[in-house]
Amino acid sequence: MARNTFDTSIEGIKSVWGPLSTEVVAGCRRNVEELLEAPAKEDWLAALHKEGPANEELYRDPKDGFVLLAHTEYAGLYRPPHDHGRGWVIYAIQQGEIEMGTYGRVEDDDGRIRLVKRNSTLVRPGQVQLYLPADIHDTRCISGPALLFRFTERDLKKEDKEGHRVTRYVERGGVWTVGSP
Ligand SMILES: [Fe+2]
Repeated sequence: MARNTFDTSIEGIKSVWGPLSTEVVAGCRRNVEELLEAPAKEDWLAALHKEGPANEELYRDPKDGFVLLAHTEYAGLYRPPHDHGRGWVIYAIQQGEIEMGTYGRVEDDDGRIRLVKRNSTLVRPGQVQLYLPADIHDTRCISGPALLFRFTERDLKKEDKEGHRVTRYVERGGVWTVGSP
């Protein structure tokens, strides 16, 4: 039976999987990019376009724990700076445009934490962005509805709620800093 692009991409990710390394990241990236090439008529993709879910888990690997999610975003949606705990993620744009900014975390002499924006990239259909552990980024949907795939090396909800490893930043007086404990 002919398999669809979704199945072949997941199989491809499984075949390159291992502890975080340049090779594993490159292999996963290649497979996520292939997912973006899927014809719109494939059932799973047609359903996402039709239903436009804000948040849908497409796949969770029972053995290796990686998760693939889909998000539909509307123009103007902003997700403030955050990291992904011990996890690493690949963002992939299927439709629409999302601006992604990256930040460095600096500590002032008085111990105050603040973010410094490094750059900003407009990510278009067919393009992906990778964030490694400790990388900090934000996203803003520029043209929508955007369909975004988020490949996460581990369950980030768990990392956030149980591990308390995910840091979200808040804006105070025009500066991004850590939230109150
Ligand atoms: Fe993120």
